[in-house]
Amino acid sequence: MHDRPEALFDLGWSTFYNMIHLSIKTFPREDLDSLHKNVVFYLGKQELSEYEHYRVLKRKDEYIASRVAMKDLVISHCSEAKTLRRDEIQIFKEPSGEPYLMVEGIRRLPGWISLSHSNGSHFSAFSPDDVRFGVDVEHIEPRPEEFVKDYFTDKEQNFFDTLDSINGSLFTTLAWSVKESVLKACGIGLGIDTRSLEIKFPLPAKTVNGWGLVEMSSSELKIPCSRIFWSREGEFILTVCVLESPNQELTWDQAILNPLWARKPANPELNRYLEPPACEPGIDMPPR
Ligand SMILES: CC(C)(COP(=O)(O)OP(=O)(O)OC[C@H]1O[C@@H](n2cnc3c(N)ncnc32)[C@H](O)[C@@H]1OP(=O)(O)O)[C@@H](O)C(=O)NCCC(=O)NCCS
Repeated sequence: MHDRPEALFDLGWSTFYNMIHLSIKTFPREDLDSLHKNVVFYLGKQELSEYEHYRVLKRKDEYIASRVAMKDLVISHCSEAKTLRRDEIQIFKEPSGEPYLMVEGIRRLPGWISLSHSNGSHFSAFSPDDVRFGVDVEHIEPRPEEFVKDYFTDKEQNFFDTLDSINGSLFTTLAWSVKESVLKACGIGLGIDTRSLEIKFPLPAKTVNGWGLVEMSSSELKIPCSRIFWSREGEFILTVCVLESPNQELTWDQAILNPLWARKPANPELNRYLEPPACEPGIDMPPR
């Protein structure tokens, strides 16, 4: 009997950004089936009871795949977790839904995590440091008019109105993803009106190490000097919001000059998505 299946799913990329490790992974159907079959190797006791509670296969897939992706990232980058089995590390959640790591059901692992799933893609972020962030992955697709009216400010909507349908889908997806990653970084999820966050369009033309920058203001949240990054990965938008921490006086330069930040996916399968995206003239899209 093997109690620690090999990491079969090394499909993503991993990177290092001021001690925030990121990975984006997709799981083929046969891998998901294998995860479900061997679920006790991957999930701890409390996670298993949450998993069993879900009835819809899509949610079960999402739940187990995101846990495995996050645990693999943590095992690779956290010295305290290196010798642990995946079922010994659990993702618990605060009443707000904010996730955190527990070891053997009794000890909280220091550091911060954030995760997101969309159409089979799993975006995980882990830092052993005292840094708060939120991440989000969104499939690029058109958003209904009512959605845009309900969740975006007048200024944001005015910008979307200047775009053709392809760029409209791209930028509404991006804007939605930014709001989600900011709200996750603050630990509040969709508990506030997303129109209290306003993204400044057009986006800065500057891109660094393959990541675009986003500027945002908020009428409700105090988010001084948060840094917001975005990138396109094939049919998906990825966003990362890093909050200012009193212990970490980061500057833009420190934050963005790490040369390992944009390490490319090792999996050739992912490369088929890397065609240059359609974009508004004058808006600099991150090169992939
Ligand atoms: C957080 C939220 C913006 C996520 O958006 P989404 O597009 O549905 O889903 P994503 O895949 O991008 O992210 C989901 C992950 O965000 C994390 N998350 C949920 N609430 C969070 C919060 N308050 N702060 C930070 N992260 C949160 C979770 O890990 C979740 O994954 P999981 O359910 O598999 O553990 C949104 O779901 C939300 O506001 N949820 C409300 C929080 C909630 O459910 N509270 C429960 C008590 S009422």
